[in-house]
Amino acid sequence: FKRPKIALIGGGQIGGVLAQLCALRELGDVVMFDIVQDMPQGKTLDIAEASRIDGFDVKLSGTNSYEGIAGADICIVTAGLPRKPGMSRDDLLTTNANIIKQVAEGIKTYAPDSFVIVISNPLDAMVTLMKEVTGFPANRVFGQAGVLDSSRFATFIAWELGVSVKDVNALVLGGHGDTMVPLVRYANVNGCPVMELLEQKYGAEKAKEVMEEMVKRTRNAGGEVVALLKTGSAFYSPASAAIQMAEAVIKDEKRVLPVCALLNGEYGVKNLYVGVPVVLGANGVEKIIELKLNEEEQKMMDVSVNAVKGLVEDMKRLGFLS
Ligand code: APR
Repeated sequence: FKRPKIALIGGGQIGGVLAQLCALRELGDVVMFDIVQDMPQGKTLDIAEASRIDGFDVKLSGTNSYEGIAGADICIVTAGLPRKPGMSRDDLLTTNANIIKQVAEGIKTYAPDSFVIVISNPLDAMVTLMKEVTGFPANRVFGQAGVLDSSRFATFIAWELGVSVKDVNALVLGGHGDTMVPLVRYANVNGCPVMELLEQKYGAEKAKEVMEEMVKRTRNAGGEVVALLKTGSAFYSPASAAIQMAEAVIKDEKRVLPVCALLNGEYGVKNLYVGVPVVLGANGVEKIIELKLNEEEQKMMDVSVNAVKGLVEDMKRLGFLS
């Protein structure tokens, strides 16, 4: 049997954590690509030299040429600039679109059968561009956003209720921006509705306020980290999220995870990448799950979808998309 080959395109903050997690979980052999000379070689060498201590048997290597990713089974893309304090993800559009275009050409040429998980921001737009340039089928090109946004929401709920985060299920839909849609009605602690638990703790009125605060914090969670770090954006949690997705594909787990996927009529949206729950397995996005949203939720989803549409229009105007 052949070990899976995982190509990490971008060896910066997220790329480094991705490589270490791939090794610790023995997900497959790792090749890290970056344009910075020698850096991916150094980073992967550093991680590989912990193999005796952590006890992993995978190979790690770095490269500055796309030939190095030849035959990759899965590519995880973090190439591109991160935000600085005060920037929105959308401010990265032109710079990162130029980078993603190059990356997509490299993947198309050297890893034409791979699954591609995009993390670079603005996420929904970068996934769209990746799909267009590679021409890969939609089940093989998708983006990481919802797994992290949902984990953030779940974490805040767990802290608020003083319960194990392992028991919290919380789902965030929509685009990976300020208009994302945390689904309050579906949030639960091992089957117990979160709103009911909050009402028991605070009464109906205050419970609503507390939830609104958590929704707000979830939407701004990336920005909160950026403001504290000052020199970059979140990198541990986005890496963990993408690894959960890669693992679902590599091990054919059929995980139900929120993923930025190409919609074809679901949620009233056609031919647009948006975050929705999907079944993730050996064929990548195997099924899109369409939840019945109530009027208020659908309205929020529409706002988020329109924000993504705006980004796609900008990309067309700038000549990145046809
Ligand atoms: N090809 C490949 N890699 C590139 C290219 C390119 N054309 N241009 C830049 N890079 C590399 C940089 O050299 C750097 O090592 O991408 C890496 C990005 O790493 P960081 O700057 O540390 O950013 P990181 O925190 O990892 O975030 C990467 O993910 O969450 C998003 O908004 C975030 O868009 C950002 C991306």
